[in-house]
Amino acid sequence: MKDLTNDNLTETVIDAFSGCAEPRTKEIITALVRHLHDFAREVRLTHDEWRHGIEFLTATGKKCDGIRQEFILLSDTLGFSIVLDAINQRHEEQSTESSLLGPFYRDGVKEAEFGADIAQTEGDPAVFRGRVVDVDGRPVAGALIEVWQTAANGMYEGQDPDQPEGNLRGRFHSNAAGEYAFRSLKPTSYPIPTDGPVGRMLVATGRHPMRPAHVHFRIAAPGYETLTTALFSSDDPYVDSDAVFGVKSSLVVDYVPKESHFDVERDFVLIAANRS
Ligand code: BEZ
Ligand code: FE
Repeated sequence: MKDLTNDNLTETVIDAFSGCAEPRTKEIITALVRHLHDFAREVRLTHDEWRHGIEFLTATGKKCDGIRQEFILLSDTLGFSIVLDAINQRHEEQSTESSLLGPFYRDGVKEAEFGADIAQTEGDPAVFRGRVVDVDGRPVAGALIEVWQTAANGMYEGQDPDQPEGNLRGRFHSNAAGEYAFRSLKPTSYPIPTDGPVGRMLVATGRHPMRPAHVHFRIAAPGYETLTTALFSSDDPYVDSDAVFGVKSSLVVDYVPKESHFDVERDFVLIAANRS
């Protein structure tokens, strides 16, 4: 019988998965075991600390339902979601960088006309315009552009029963020149949901829950990779400390003050789906 020692323990556990017939599952579980064991050894995790960790994960699961997904929030606040984004989103030098989809996207929003106003609540008016182009600068006509953002009170329609259906959500198509335009509001920063274990984790670790002001964009066109991204306001106090690490400097934009509104001009560059 093989003697289980501190030195061979991890390899013994990994060996227990040697019969796994699905290679990708085997690769993932092997790496998971190795990293988990290393993690416990590195911090010399105590039984009490692990019990606390299990209680935290249990509470995280209990907070989840059909709408609320506390595990995604945990993944977001640990920076894990944005690591996955970096691994999986294709990027070329000229293409627009991606950012987190977040939990407040929803489809089924009514199509609006070029230039339409998507705000049904009060706030600082803003006009967004630009083009959807490919990496060579050629216009992408007929691209589906979906946008969503919070109201001036920091809440998304859907979180807030006082907002009209579809408030601050838009669905447009780019015109023949690849152009899009819509009217909305200058967004405000807002806290991610804090009434669960992830909120308590943020407090316990001295972190704030704020996302800097942003407008989400999802842009899809036949023959192109779908782009999920967001535009962040350069004047936001949280732009350097997003609670979910979604900000990239290339996605930070200025809201240029005009007489009656702010102007934001921004092109989006898509990558062709077949480009290697
Ligand atoms: C959002 O931007 O909508 C969001 C992203 C991650 C967690 C919570 C909210
Ligand atoms: Fe958001």
